[in-house]
Amino acid sequence: MEVTRRRFLSIFFGIGSALGLGAFAAPLIRYVYPVLKGTVYEKQKIAAVADVTGDGVRFDYQDIPSMLIQKKDKSYAAFSLVCTHLGCIVKWEPQNFDFHCPCHGGKFNENGKNIAGPPPKPLTEWNITQEAGQIFVNGVKSGG
Ligand code: FES
Repeated sequence: MEVTRRRFLSIFFGIGSALGLGAFAAPLIRYVYPVLKGTVYEKQKIAAVADVTGDGVRFDYQDIPSMLIQKKDKSYAAFSLVCTHLGCIVKWEPQNFDFHCPCHGGKFNENGKNIAGPPPKPLTEWNITQEAGQIFVNGVKSGG
């Protein structure tokens, strides 16, 4: 079978479009998929209390990039770092006690609440507990 130039270009750009769409859709799917499949969360150790600094502790919770922080009042909280706008990974800025999204300028305060930019809702907050000097994460905080 002879492949015409038109057919070749059609296949070439078709594959390119599919790859581009995949790159765009991947973060969105990564954000939505756990919600859709009714994820069963497991208990996981994050860090020893003594090891938590103002910079926080970065961890993955069931493949979800996450962060344990210490708030201004010295209490601890943990959040998914997946931006609720289009799924970029937000960055904790300890000097401002907020999270900043590098993609479209979204901001979340130390409680995970969306306070600026396009994110439509707060970051997912994880339920954390302390046991024997260790901090654990175990599922989504109710109301979070
Ligand atoms: S993906 Fe975070 S503000 Fe758009």
